[in-house]
Amino acid sequence: MSTLRQRPGSAGSARTSRPATPEVTLSPIVGASARMQRLLKLVGRVAPTDSTVLILGESGTGKELVARSLHVLSKRASGPFVAVNVGALPESLVESELFGHARGAFTGADTDRPGLVEEAHGGTLFLDEIGDMPLSAQVKLLRTLENNEVRRVGENTPRLVDVRVIAATHRDLQAQVADGRFRGDLYYRLNVVQLEIPPLRDRAEDVGLLASYFLERAARRTGRALRFAPDAMHALGQHDWPGNVRELENAVEHTVAVTESDLLTAADLPASVRTPRLLTRNAGEAADAWMEPAARPARARSARDPDARPLDEVIREHVLRALSRHEGNATAAARQLGVSRTTLWRMLKRWGVSRRAVKGS
Ligand SMILES: Nc1ncnc2c1ncn2[C@@H]1O[C@H](COP(=O)(O)OP(=O)(O)O)[C@@H](O)[C@H]1O
Ligand SMILES: [Mg+2]
Repeated sequence: MSTLRQRPGSAGSARTSRPATPEVTLSPIVGASARMQRLLKLVGRVAPTDSTVLILGESGTGKELVARSLHVLSKRASGPFVAVNVGALPESLVESELFGHARGAFTGADTDRPGLVEEAHGGTLFLDEIGDMPLSAQVKLLRTLENNEVRRVGENTPRLVDVRVIAATHRDLQAQVADGRFRGDLYYRLNVVQLEIPPLRDRAEDVGLLASYFLERAARRTGRALRFAPDAMHALGQHDWPGNVRELENAVEHTVAVTESDLLTAADLPASVRTPRLLTRNAGEAADAWMEPAARPARARSARDPDARPLDEVIREHVLRALSRHEGNATAAARQLGVSRTTLWRMLKRWGVSRRAVKGS
């Protein structure tokens, strides 16, 4: 049985190649669509448990944001949050980066060094792009998950660690298991709780809210009275966001940066956003043809039957569209919808739309 050794302190672990543990603050997950509301509830329920969580979703959907929220809302909030992009690590370094190494374990290992797993001791280890993890490292990770221990490369004695693992991928892990590229036992061990974040094109009613949220943030930062012209809101609503929330966030930042006027029009938006929806969708499918099947975004799944939707969802979408048409102005939206502002606020509250996302309170 191994014993808990003293954690490596900051001394000896100063590494420039590695991002420092970022300051973890709770930034809101914006979203009023039914699927995001369900996801938010689940995040709240799962966060305080110590369960391993697997987050699935296309690039830019907010996987890391969800992982950070899980950490901040957990009992480990005062511990470290260590985020690793497994896909960005050279294959030859994955094991020593994650699990550490002993001095002399290989050429260039001139000191004993703890790995990122040990650095996350007492906190949360976020393994992004877990689908890119080499099989040999997968074996070691499984051992860590099962026995709460880590063995540095070149050492025989394991060390006890206390970490919660949150993993994420944009790939179809089950297909990778079927292909033998991902270990089935690790998949089941990681998949204790699965959170799937829908692509932005499948929750069009969130686009206006997110755009207003990012614009408000930019307005606070720059001190400008920024707002969207109706044609800009319309163009944002027409685009199908293959890069998801990240693309939207960048589009707003870009527009704010290049526009002198505080009123942002459609013409100020990046050309990629102004391109008609059909073109971007085809471009997305064309891009798919160049990707491995496992890495392709699930575009086909976005097709839905509009007649099969529950009434509440239709109402919610209609109300949120009215809000984004009026740039988040609650008074104007209520007037258009023919309801009082109190009624509108009540609906928004029920759907969990934060007041901060809406103007005119
Ligand atoms: N629902 C959301 N509300 C607010 N910001 C979001 C939301 N989803 C994503 N973002 C922002 O979009 C960017 C991309 O999100 P990220 O978590 O890095 O995506 P992923 O890890 O899936 O690629 C980040 O800046 C993140 O804060
Ligand atoms: Mg990411």
